[in-house]
Parts: sequence; structure tokens; C-alpha cells
Amino acid sequence: MQSVPGGLSRNSAPQTPTADPMADHRFSAVSRGKSCCNISKKAQICLCLVFGLLVVVIIAVVVGILMWHQPPKHKEWKGAGTTAHFYEIILGRCYTYTQIVRPELGHKDCSKIGKAFTNAFLSKDPCSSTEQDYQPLMELTNQTVPCNKTLLWSKTRDLVHDYAWVQPDLFTLEDTLLGYMADGLTWCGDPGSNEMNYQSCPDWRKDCSNNSVSIFWNTVSKRFAGDACGVVHVLLNGSIRNTFDEKSTFGRVEVFNLHPEKVHMLQAWVVQDIRTISSNSCSNSSIKDLEAILSKRNITFTCQDNYRPIRLLQCVKDPEHSSCRSEI
Ligand SMILES: *[C@@H]1O[C@H](CO)[C@@H](O)[C@H](O)[C@H]1NC(C)=O
Ligand SMILES: *[C@@H]1O[C@H](CO)[C@@H](O)[C@H](O)[C@H]1NC(C)=O
Ligand SMILES: *[C@@H]1O[C@H](CO)[C@@H](O)[C@H](O)[C@H]1NC(C)=O
Ligand SMILES: *[C@@H]1O[C@H](CO)[C@@H](O)[C@H](O)[C@H]1NC(C)=O
Ligand SMILES: *[C@@H]1O[C@H](CO)[C@@H](O)[C@H](O)[C@H]1NC(C)=O
Ligand SMILES: *[C@@H]1O[C@H](CO)[C@@H](O)[C@H](O)[C@H]1NC(C)=O
Repeated sequence: MQSVPGGLSRNSAPQTPTADPMADHRFSAVSRGKSCCNISKKAQICLCLVFGLLVVVIIAVVVGILMWHQPPKHKEWKGAGTTAHFYEIILGRCYTYTQIVRPELGHKDCSKIGKAFTNAFLSKDPCSSTEQDYQPLMELTNQTVPCNKTLLWSKTRDLVHDYAWVQPDLFTLEDTLLGYMADGLTWCGDPGSNEMNYQSCPDWRKDCSNNSVSIFWNTVSKRFAGDACGVVHVLLNGSIRNTFDEKSTFGRVEVFNLHPEKVHMLQAWVVQDIRTISSNSCSNSSIKDLEAILSKRNITFTCQDNYRPIRLLQCVKDPEHSSCRSEI
């Protein structure tokens, strides 16, 4: 580094300053510097030392500031972190849904939707998520589900989606744009950073119930039930104690957001696992609780045990079972 300006000044020195006024002008700054350094070798060494020290101090200060400003490590939670490639996944699913799965939905601006989604939780405390955070996203993704085609579910996740797959005119929440985009994903941000927290996110039970993911599902479930009309169906699990669970999304959110003016009836299909079929699940006490809630809300309730089309679907996966042989 030092050899370059030194070499330049030494080369320029022998040039006669008077012969070429332009050359004199060009090198005047350098030759002045040279005459200064010529004062004494001691001063030169001193200057070098001071300059070197200055560089070291500047580097130290810069490194210090950088380390000071480094984002604090994300807070640690008990749940799994944001799904890797979260943004790419929701963007890809948005285009897949609007272009291939349900092109009849019409134009939706997927890049805007993707940004509204991440804006709902980035740089925010993932344990203080609110419905308001998701409002811009909601406004970009409104969707009409035809009357009589809403299919709710609780504790029957796989079976209900198998059924919706063979009855494509039915809509579970995961068959709407937002449900389809977010299905199976985890996400959260951090107030001290504008990035997603890929290490950990709040656990619903162990950290907080109002976390980014739970609030999202509450918000979209509320809208999904509120938009429903005609006859609404729900697929419940008759092989567990609380077939109707008041703490589930269905029991907490959806039941209370069905509009009696629009929803004539809620019809429950209660399915039992094919290997543990016992008595009539519709007479189970938790179903009576559901019936009581709906009756108070002026919504008619009916219940059907082991609805045959769904039983047939269970039999596809277990064709040798005795209850399957006799049925067809
Ligand atoms: C979120 O829940 C926690 C307790 O689980 C509560 O302390 C906090 O105030 C809630 N935040 C909001 C924004 O509701
Ligand atoms: C969504 O909302 C916009 C504006 O409020 C409205 O013009 C559009 O028809 C709605 N789309 C659906 C599918 O409801
Ligand atoms: C919804 O179902 C009810 C009862 O089966 C029927 O009367 C009504 O016409 C249906 N509505 C539509 C839009 O199919
Ligand atoms: C009912 O719940 C049990 C326990 O969670 C589960 O193993 C079973 O697959 C569920 N049945 C259906 C039909 O989803
Ligand atoms: C409800 O179902 C569960 C599980 O099958 C069973 O243990 C319980 O006894 C049933 N309750 C009634 C009142 O039938
Ligand atoms: C239910 O209907 C009855 C009579 O039709 C009415 O008096 C009552 O206010 C309604 N209840 C609700 C919650 O809408």
C-alpha cells in the first residue's frame, strides 16, 4: 500500500517542474507531500505509526459497532420453528390453487397475498398475535363457498380430506385459498428482527394460546363458518371420548359463528374407526351438548352415524375387514 504513493512521488520528482506547467500542476500535491516527508525520517516514522494506530482504532470501532448492532438471538420457544422455505411454499401454493386447483376463483394477486401474510407476523411478538394482524390478508383472499357445500371437521383430519377429495364440490377450510396455503405449516416472527424464526415458535399449550399460527386459524375458521349457508356438515370422530370437544376449533369458534339466518341446519356425520365400531355415537353425551348449543342458537341439528359414503371410503383402506365385506 505504501509503495504505490511512494513510487509515484519518487518517479515524479526528477521531472523538471519548469519544463511542463501542466505536469507541475498535476503533481503539485504529491511533491508538496514529499517535501513535508523530507523534513525528517523520524517524523515520517511517527506519521506512519499514528496512521497505523488510527486504522487499528477505526477497525476496532467498526467491528464493535457491528457486533453491538447484530440482531439479538431469537427468543426460544417450546414449539417447532417456522417451516423451512415458508415464503416460497405459501407463494407456490397460492399460484397452484388459483391457477390449477380452483381457477374459477378468478384473479388473486399472489405476490400481494404472500406479503400480506408475512407482514401479519414479521417483527411482532408471536405471543401477542391478533385478528387485526391478519385483516389485510383476509381482505385479499375473500372467497365464496356455495350454500350446502361447507364441510367442517374435528379430530377427523385425514378422513375428511379424503372425502373432500372424492367430493370436490365440498369445501373444508383447507379447500379454500387461505386454508390450502397454510395447511400443515408453522410460522412466527420476532419483535427484535425482521426475519422469520426458523429455530422455534410458541407452543399452543406450553407458551401461549394467542400465537401467530393459532390466531390465524381462529381468524380463518371464524370467517369460514360465518360465510356458510344452507345445510352445513361436520365430520366428527366417534372413536374418542369427546366426540364433540368444546375446546376444539369447531367447538370454540365455528359453532358460534354460524349465522342462524343463513344456516338452516347443521348435520353431523359421526364416524368410528373401522376396527372399533361400538354403539351408536350420535347418542353420546358430548353430541347432546352440541345439540343443546345449536338449539339455543336456533340452528336445527341432525346426527348420522357412520354415514355410508364415508364408511365406503374407510373400507377402501381396509377392504378385508368384516364390516366392509358385508356392506357392499
Ligand atoms: C396473549 O396471551 C397472553 C397470555 O397467554 C397475555 O398475557 C397477553 O396479554 C395476550 N396478548 C394479547 C395481545 O392478547
Ligand atoms: C371480494 O371482495 C371484493 C371487494 O370487497 C369484491 O369486489 C369481490 O367480489 C369479492 N370476491 C368474492 C369472491 O367474494
Ligand atoms: C341446500 O339443501 C337444502 C336441503 O337439502 C335444499 O332445500 C336447498 O335447495 C339446497 N340449496 C342449494 C343452493 O343447493
Ligand atoms: C379418531 O381419533 C383417533 C385418536 O386421535 C385417531 O387415531 C383416529 O384416526 C380418528 N378417527 C378418524 C376417523 O379420523
Ligand atoms: C361416549 O363415547 C365414549 C368413547 O366411545 C365412551 O367412553 C362413553 O362412554 C360414551 N358416552 C356415552 C354417554 O355414551
Ligand atoms: C330464536 O328464535 C326465537 C323464536 O323464533 C326467538 O324468540 C329467539 O330470540 C331466537 N334466538 C336467537 C339466539 O336468535
